[in-house]
Amino acid sequence: MEHKLAKIFVRQQDPIRMVLKKLTANKTDRDLPPGIALVVDGGEKLLGIVTNGDIRRAFAAGVGVRDPVVKAMNRSPSVIEKPPNRTEVLSLVFDKIRAGEWPKDRLEKIIIVDDRRRVLDLASFYDLVRSSDVRFKHIGVVGLGYVGLTLGLTLADVGFTVNGIDASPDVMRSIVKGKPHFFEAGLTQLLKDHLGARFRAVDSFRKENNCDVYFIAVGTPLGTGYKPDLKYLSSAVESVGRVLKPGDAVILRSTVPIGTTRNVAAPILEKESGLKAGEGFLLAFAPERTAEGKALEELRVLPQVIGGLNRASSDLAANIFAFLTLSTVLVDSLEAAEMVKLVNNTYRDVTFGFANEVSLVAKHWGIDGKSVIDAANYGYQRSRIPAPSPGVGGYCLEKDPFIFIQSAKAKGYEPLLVPAARKISDRMVERVAADVSAFLKARVPAGKNPKILILGFAFKGEPLTSDVRGSTAIALVQRLRSLGRPLFFGFDPAVRKDDVARDRVNLVRDPQAGFKNADAVIVMNNNRAFAELDVRSLLAKSSRPVLFFDSWALYNREEIEKVKGAEYRRL
Ligand SMILES: NC(=O)c1ccc[n+]([C@@H]2O[C@H](COP(=O)([O-])OP(=O)(O)OC[C@H]3O[C@@H](n4cnc5c(N)ncnc54)[C@H](O)[C@@H]3O)[C@@H](O)[C@H]2O)c1
Repeated sequence: MEHKLAKIFVRQQDPIRMVLKKLTANKTDRDLPPGIALVVDGGEKLLGIVTNGDIRRAFAAGVGVRDPVVKAMNRSPSVIEKPPNRTEVLSLVFDKIRAGEWPKDRLEKIIIVDDRRRVLDLASFYDLVRSSDVRFKHIGVVGLGYVGLTLGLTLADVGFTVNGIDASPDVMRSIVKGKPHFFEAGLTQLLKDHLGARFRAVDSFRKENNCDVYFIAVGTPLGTGYKPDLKYLSSAVESVGRVLKPGDAVILRSTVPIGTTRNVAAPILEKESGLKAGEGFLLAFAPERTAEGKALEELRVLPQVIGGLNRASSDLAANIFAFLTLSTVLVDSLEAAEMVKLVNNTYRDVTFGFANEVSLVAKHWGIDGKSVIDAANYGYQRSRIPAPSPGVGGYCLEKDPFIFIQSAKAKGYEPLLVPAARKISDRMVERVAADVSAFLKARVPAGKNPKILILGFAFKGEPLTSDVRGSTAIALVQRLRSLGRPLFFGFDPAVRKDDVARDRVNLVRDPQAGFKNADAVIVMNNNRAFAELDVRSLLAKSSRPVLFFDSWALYNREEIEKVKGAEYRRL
């Protein structure tokens, strides 16, 4: 393959007239540095350089246009020899400047050579500084979901130029219109502030959309047998690999099984780009750990965990995140960073599983599980047991423990605690469903289609989110559907009607419409708006009897049971 600088290579014996033509031609070729030719031998070994100034000086000394260029050649140009990689070139240049070896006017033309003095590249000091300073980096974000859009807009907000891309036409349409396709506090304003300016939704990373640092933030759902399905990740990485140029960086943000960045992403990137990971491009894993509903706030305060393929990769990622948050945590490897994310979420899942098991044991004893947990925690720092819940849902906690399990099994270890916690929490929805169906069977006249109102369809109520992925309320609807064809009503101020329509739930905006004539009211998340409802007067309009299942223990039993015909239950 021809050397990328071949057009400015000249031989010692080439006449100055020919060299002058090359120097002029360079002015029009954007990929070649102007005003310089490199004098090399047959093996592309650097012998010297010649610039317009060198030729002018030679003319003044009586050299003519027919003379060989060797008579005008500068034999000691500024050269950096065999840098370990491109990112080190600038440090070596600084060393030379500090040692007083190079005059300032040489810094425009720095030639990089290998250990046999063969030309590798030519750079200017300005270009080197610019490419080493992350503030000049153009950022690409692949996947504009909860993670990608919040991160992309936050990076734009701190001053980066960001191009985002998403495979879903619906997602792209809504972003281009300035409407985020999900609720996240503060996001609409951020999109309004930066869309079309520092943040653009683009359809490819080619040409003017090409970036220097790519974040991968696509979904990593579970496939069959609870195994992580990496098809979105592989295709996203492939698309980045195709546009990668030397010196670029790729940072994985999606949650992945341990080993994915090194063993799945790196080979794809190398194959598609023809560059070597760690040398031709940088590669890091930096998990997203924000909570939906607080993402914009947490992106600016949570420590960012970073694992790089090598030091240069970790440093680049850390330098970028330093614009967002005061603290970054560098871990030893890509794998350690991947594992941190799985550990954070699996830990939460296990503690929730424990709280739920406490609740199940308490029920067998006829004890109120929630008050046992409250008493165990009260004034006793060593116990911080969370509240029991009607199942543990959400896009992350439903899948990340399985990715943890899969990662353990990949190395021959069969985890015990984590699968158990998942099973316990899955029982909670069954428990709510069993209680509700027993009540309806016993108390609602046969032949009547019971009306069930569910408060809370987002997978959590606090912090506020519109996300219904892994919603335990939807799981409950599916379980109860067999019961004498119930009519499902829902109330959740954060959720869009369309998101529950396929489950045939009538989402009402006015809670009164839901409570009216309801046979059962079930609280399925802890949305703060529920605390503001005047439940006593709403329940008074419900059927008699009515079951009030307060699975998040948001209300006072005595208050509810003051309503005639209302029966209060909780986990
Ligand atoms: N949601 C969270 O709060 C959260 C928190 C931490 C980590 N994570 C992890 O981050 C990742 C993304 O999660 P999310 O909630 O943002 O998912 P999401 O489904 O909201 O967003 C992913 C987006 O990627 C797009 N996409 C898929 N393949 C693509 C491709 N090849 N090119 C371009 N776009 C593509 C999809 O269309 C989708 O819009 C997951 O691995 C998840 O586990 C999520």
